Amino acid sequence: MLWVRLQWVFDRNRSQPDDQGMIDLTGKVFIVTGGNGGIGLGMAEGIAMSGGSLAIWGRNPQKNADALDKLTAITDEHGGKASAYVCDVGDEKAIIDTMDQTVSDMGRMDGLFANAGRGGTGTPFVDLSLDEWREVMTVNLDGVFLTLREASKRLISQGEGGSLVAVSSTSAVHGAAGNEAYGTAKTALNGLVRALAVGMARHKIRVNSLLPGWTITELASGGYESDVFRNATIKRTPVRRWADPAEFREVGAFLADPGQTYHTGQEVCVDGGYTVF
Ligand SMILES: NC(=O)c1ccc[n+]([C@@H]2O[C@H](COP(=O)([O-])OP(=O)(O)OC[C@H]3O[C@@H](n4cnc5c(N)ncnc54)[C@H](OP(=O)(O)O)[C@@H]3O)[C@@H](O)[C@H]2O)c1
Repeated sequence: MLWVRLQWVFDRNRSQPDDQGMIDLTGKVFIVTGGNGGIGLGMAEGIAMSGGSLAIWGRNPQKNADALDKLTAITDEHGGKASAYVCDVGDEKAIIDTMDQTVSDMGRMDGLFANAGRGGTGTPFVDLSLDEWREVMTVNLDGVFLTLREASKRLISQGEGGSLVAVSSTSAVHGAAGNEAYGTAKTALNGLVRALAVGMARHKIRVNSLLPGWTITELASGGYESDVFRNATIKRTPVRRWADPAEFREVGAFLADPGQTYHTGQEVCVDGGYTVF
């Protein structure tokens, strides 16, 4: 009799094999800026595969529509829903308006991935104009500040915690030679994340940064298509290749996961070992 009872308790508490390691984002809504392609779409797919709902923001309506088709196919299967909005994160009013629209359409918001970004202008440092410097900062730094600020307001007023992520870069660790404005913006994001993580902890809002390594996307296509550049970066990458954006699915779901209550203020590096080699 005692054995039967113990066996029942054990069976009840034991995880089923297919439950192990799963992240459940059912009922949660995440915004991914720049979610219509590359790393942002990879993370959005991971969230959708974990049952979450998505709102992606980008400037290009056709890229938004194509990405929305892909995400809807996943959310139809896993129970969430997906939406897409045209928004330029270099425009403060557009961010405020799109945030209003998104939360009104989706009903709530549990986190935001400030992933939208652009490359540098390629101008040698001694010729770099203030306008070019500001072009890069407007999207890669001001845009992240503004989207995180608006998301913080929503999460605080909702009062249920949440997750904020800034997509930085390994350029914040190694010298981004010839890409000074980009490297400066990405390094600044890590400072913003650390400051915000401390201030937001009392609201149960976690704030982390993601540092991707070399990944085959539109933004990095110039580097990937250059044999010299690609081979040089692969030589410095212990796993000996560039990443596919789909490899950011798992880390996207992980960073979104409300179960990660003790994980904040951190830089999560996904770079095939580039920064330690
Ligand atoms: N690929 C890499 O090797 C690498 C390495 C380290 C860090 N990162 C970072 O990862 C993030 C994603 O880049 P990715 O490599 O995945 O490149 P990507 O495929 O070109 O994606 C960039 C995304 O940002 C959006 N975007 C660009 N400017 C925007 C603006 N002003 N307003 C709103 N959305 C904007 C783009 O959509 P629209 O064109 O529709 O606006 C696109 O969805 C960036 O922050 C990048 O700096 C990339």
